[in-house]
Amino acid sequence: MIGIARQTAIYLAGVTGRRPPVPVDTTRLEAGARRAMAPEAFAYVAAGAGTEDTVAANRAAFARRRIVPRMLRDVSERDTSVELLGRRLESPFMLAPVGVLELAHPDADLAVARAARATGVPMVLSNQASKPMEACAEALGDSPRWFQLYWSTRDELVASFAQRAERSGCEAIVITLDTTMLGWRPRDLTPAYLPFLRGKGIAQYTSDPVFRRLMAEDGGEDTPAPRPNLKAVKTLVDMTRAYPDGFLKTLGSGQGRAAVQKFVQIYSRPSLTWEQLPFLREHTSLPILLKGILHPEDAARAVEAGMDGIIVSNHGGRQVDGAIATLDALPAVVKAVADRVPVLLDSGVRSGADAFKALALGARAVLIGRPYVYGLAIAGQDGVQAVLDHYRADFDLTMGLAGCRSIAEIGPDALTAA
Ligand code: FNR
Repeated sequence: MIGIARQTAIYLAGVTGRRPPVPVDTTRLEAGARRAMAPEAFAYVAAGAGTEDTVAANRAAFARRRIVPRMLRDVSERDTSVELLGRRLESPFMLAPVGVLELAHPDADLAVARAARATGVPMVLSNQASKPMEACAEALGDSPRWFQLYWSTRDELVASFAQRAERSGCEAIVITLDTTMLGWRPRDLTPAYLPFLRGKGIAQYTSDPVFRRLMAEDGGEDTPAPRPNLKAVKTLVDMTRAYPDGFLKTLGSGQGRAAVQKFVQIYSRPSLTWEQLPFLREHTSLPILLKGILHPEDAARAVEAGMDGIIVSNHGGRQVDGAIATLDALPAVVKAVADRVPVLLDSGVRSGADAFKALALGARAVLIGRPYVYGLAIAGQDGVQAVLDHYRADFDLTMGLAGCRSIAEIGPDALTAA
């Protein structure tokens, strides 16, 4: 019932001349973040692959479906809660795993964790986080969290991340499958900017005992130090800061650069196949979800492989330009899965109504990505919290206005083609 409460709070503040400090509307939210962020940082977050056709397709797929509201159904009491992996969530939203949040705000993942805790919205901790998962776990308190994994070339690192996730109170592990290589992203290629090469977004690695051992064993200082122009020095300082032993201690020791080099060598395994999945199962008792599934046959195979859930995602259009929109992929995946495990969706969710449409087509919950990063850039923890509040309020009102009292009442008959 957050809808009316939020709405009332905003309008009442308006009487005394106060407007919502974090934009309610998506376009202004993005514009505010663009103003708050360094140009290459904003570009990294906003970027899609290639012509950004899939970024647009994700939105277009939502626009092609329309809600057909039903009347006279007593919607005075509404329940937006959903059950997911044995937990009841107050709303069907989750915070998607987003790496390198330090590009948006120095508090990065910690600010997001605090917002997650304040709202009860589950956070999926990124493999490419700017803060170690243990620090986020502390900020999260008892609030629900999952860990997202990129499968490294080194199995021992995969096992170490899984164990740390378990110890950090994560309730599931999400394997992201669609990023075995980085997509071709002109917005990042043009300024030649990749944050990882500057030591950003590698905190899970530099805080990991196995990663540190691998660094020590394999060296990793085979490439020459950057030439000492101003830009190179700034990059070196960035890289050294990524190393948790502290900036001054490691300056000159080459540790920062070595960490980046080791990360680049081992962060991803393009050769990954279905055959490797049992390895993770052996190393964790947590439920495992696969993120990046778009084909119904992959969805069916995931269930047969004993996976506990599926996230229909095209990484916000950042990987395969021209890939199918997630809302278009959803119905066939839902059919193939046939209620055996929960199906979640992300990519292009920009309103409560979008979440309603995804749920009507069979998603259990939705994840939001860029919008909360924009909130973070504008106002840190408060910004993330505001974005989550706005989505939850919008969803509650949309659900009620469409004539549904609970999520169980949201079905495919609530939609029509545009
Ligand atoms: C991402 N995403 C992502 N996914 C993942 O599994 N691990 C990660 O580290 C990241 N990092 C990341 C960084 C940035 C800047 C963005 C924008 C996205 C993808 C993310 O989890 C999610 O799939 C999309 O962001 C959802 O699409 P929208 O809501 O951004 O359109």
